[in-house]
Amino acid sequence: MALLTILEFPDPRLRTKAQPVTVFDAALKQLVADMFETMYAAPGVGLAATQVNVHRQLLIMDMSEDKSDPHVLINPRLLDQGGEQVFQEGCLSFPGIYADVERALRVKVAAQDVDGKPFELEVEGPLAVCMQHEMDHLQGKVFVDYLSPLKRSMLLKKLDKKRKQSA
Ligand code: NI
Repeated sequence: MALLTILEFPDPRLRTKAQPVTVFDAALKQLVADMFETMYAAPGVGLAATQVNVHRQLLIMDMSEDKSDPHVLINPRLLDQGGEQVFQEGCLSFPGIYADVERALRVKVAAQDVDGKPFELEVEGPLAVCMQHEMDHLQGKVFVDYLSPLKRSMLLKKLDKKRKQSA
């Protein structure tokens, strides 16, 4: 196992559109294991491969308090969505900043597991937020893209300030 480096905004590689996973081999399983280790260590509740500079359609999530609800979604595709919710989001690529984002309340996706086996998953509430946030990463999109220009520039200034403090 290994901790992976998480790309931080405004790294342009976060804008890369991920390609489908086509090979379900031991290297993929290792990547998934390393991503979980990296996400839990951060700590975070979701991580897209894009954020560790692997531009393949793969994301992981676990919103439980005790690492008991891990999800791996490979080549996820949105089947259905409904309702709306506003949730305060953060992102491991934007350490220390948070913002309210409006998203669908429920989403249903089709994806594959680490062995390539297809499955469907329907989630709602916070886990649906996480799913939509991570699926966005695979398209090169980040949560601050949803904010107004004013709100975004305020947050990015704050991010800058936090970086200078920790440097
Ligand atoms: Ni994120």
